[in-house]
Amino acid sequence: MDADRSASRTAVLVCQGRAAAHGRIAIERFSDPIAEMLLRGGERAVVEQVRSGIAPRDWRQRLDYELVAATAEGMVPRTVAIDDAIRAHPTAQLVILGAGLDGRAWRMPELARTTVFEVDQPSSQQDLRDRIGSLAPLSGALRFTPVDFARDQLGPALAAAGHDPHQPTTWVWEGVVAYLTRAQVRATVGLVRARSAPGSRLIVNYQHPSLTAVAGRLLMRSLSRLTRREDPLAGEPRRSAWTPRAMATMLGMHGFRVTSDEDQLSLAGRLPIEVRHSRSLRAGRVLVADL
Ligand SMILES: C[S@@+](CC[C@H](N)C(=O)[O-])C[C@H]1O[C@@H](n2cnc3c(N)ncnc32)[C@H](O)[C@@H]1O
Repeated sequence: MDADRSASRTAVLVCQGRAAAHGRIAIERFSDPIAEMLLRGGERAVVEQVRSGIAPRDWRQRLDYELVAATAEGMVPRTVAIDDAIRAHPTAQLVILGAGLDGRAWRMPELARTTVFEVDQPSSQQDLRDRIGSLAPLSGALRFTPVDFARDQLGPALAAAGHDPHQPTTWVWEGVVAYLTRAQVRATVGLVRARSAPGSRLIVNYQHPSLTAVAGRLLMRSLSRLTRREDPLAGEPRRSAWTPRAMATMLGMHGFRVTSDEDQLSLAGRLPIEVRHSRSLRAGRVLVADL
């Protein structure tokens, strides 16, 4: 999304997906009770519909319903894989890049001794702060760090927020790479590397090039026009997709060694999930790289 634009709409969509999945999909492995608390009236109403499993007859409402239902399916393997990678490698600092409405600082007791840095484009970050209000985090400390990767310097912003580059950091970069150009992705990895002490871990969720994803976006645009409603994805065009090889090579140039990289369909295969959108799941990947 461009600088000075409104808060991220896709951040709300993925939060709706997590709220719709909570207590319903893979309940022994996935839990996000914070997601629903972050939603506003209309955003929560469609989540309730998805949770009820009764699809609305009105086809405008049906569109929102299907979008949230499909998102819920993809959020579960992605969230579980990232949470597992955080738990398996505890560090005193966790930086969430493009945090959106990420609730980890409020829902993961494992972060009790960790300082969490929430990094996001300023209006998206303000949106999170407005929505979360005074809810106390479970993390040891929480630092809000507004940064637009396309415009601002990540390093000085993190330094000002108290990030220590001499201590290992776990970095989570979930659902953001697709919205950045390849140059912005490379530049951000360089800045991440510059603040990563040995023992740091980078967890990246990114998109493999996918005709299904392109077709899905075109379909959403056409249906939105047809139903005379706002396309929820219009303000955030996808800007880069990566093959696993290109991603590993780029990370390797910055010293990160990939220890796992799996598509969300494979990750879902290890969870009790009834998969309805296998192509879309196959295009999303979760990678773990260590320094
Ligand atoms: C799909 S949301 C993902 C949010 C969160 N990581 C999650 O998975 O729930 C995309 C996020 O990327 C952020 N983002 C996109 N472009 C950005 C940029 N140039 N600088 C900073 N954040 C950006 C948006 O503000 C938004 O929070």
